[in-house]
Amino acid sequence: MRVFTLLWTLGFLLKEAQAWGFKNGIFHNSIWLEQAAGVYHRESRKGRYQLTYKEAKAVCKYEGGTLATYEQLEAARQIGFHVCAAGWFDKGRVGYPIVKAGVKCGFGKVGIIDYGYRLNKSERWDVYCYNPNSKECGGVLTDQQKIIQSPGFPEEYQDEQICYWHIRVRLGQRIRLRFLEFDVEDDMACLADYLEVYDSYDDVSGFAGRFCGDYLPDDIISTGNVMTLKFLSDASVIAGGFQLEYTAFNASLFSQNHTHYFH
Ligand SMILES: *[C@@H]1O[C@H](CO)[C@@H](O)[C@H](O)[C@H]1NC(C)=O
Ligand SMILES: *[C@@H]1O[C@H](CO)[C@@H](O)[C@H](O)[C@H]1NC(C)=O
Ligand SMILES: *[C@@H]1O[C@H](CO)[C@@H](O)[C@H](O)[C@H]1NC(C)=O
Repeated sequence: MRVFTLLWTLGFLLKEAQAWGFKNGIFHNSIWLEQAAGVYHRESRKGRYQLTYKEAKAVCKYEGGTLATYEQLEAARQIGFHVCAAGWFDKGRVGYPIVKAGVKCGFGKVGIIDYGYRLNKSERWDVYCYNPNSKECGGVLTDQQKIIQSPGFPEEYQDEQICYWHIRVRLGQRIRLRFLEFDVEDDMACLADYLEVYDSYDDVSGFAGRFCGDYLPDDIISTGNVMTLKFLSDASVIAGGFQLEYTAFNASLFSQNHTHYFH
């Protein structure tokens, strides 16, 4: 039993070290950075390098923000914002922020890797947005407890929505999601409309589940102090939407309870 506990603890620590913490001397936790500087990176729903300048502007505007300026991007970079993907920012400029020099990214340079003002605004890149505040559809949430709901709730949500909520609580805390209401267009694989939950600061790693239909999902508990929720609706059929509550709690309390279980 002791071995089991040790393995479980090791697994937890390893997972935590990969998902957030120091890597190459940089504190990788974009939520912390977003909160500090309000700058974040987005790509298109279709994947990397798919946004024209006009579309890039629309992505930021949709979330209540604007394209980041060079100064905002640089301010974020100075506190550790490091992304290896070129994106549009203010006034049709393209580039990306590099903190730590690497051969694979940024030509071994440090700073804003600047592709300059693009004459051709139909080129396709990612985007860097600036938004220090949260909005009904998504945002960066740092409260100890908060209700999150689909846009317009309890009215039906609209077509073609995409919202990201990044939850970040204190270091050492964990997050519990509790679903209160759930009604999202149903299909077998949840391909049309869905809510996705990630046990990480982005929607790339830590996939924890994709939900649709009207079955109330079970509680979800994070392994660390960050979580990402992504809500997406397609161009047809809408439904009542969802409402959930997140609560932060002290991780030490929780793992103590688990340790008792395993012993
Ligand atoms: C502008 O960029 C697009 C996308 O890369 C390309 O298809 C188009 O030919 C370019 N236009 C000019 C005038 O170079
Ligand atoms: C959680 O941890 C914080 C800081 O370590 C402490 O001040 C607080 O009292 C703790 N809360 C509970 C419920 O134990
Ligand atoms: C852990 O157990 C204590 C008492 O046994 C309880 O008060 C606390 O709520 C539990 N914590 C969690 C996260 O379940």
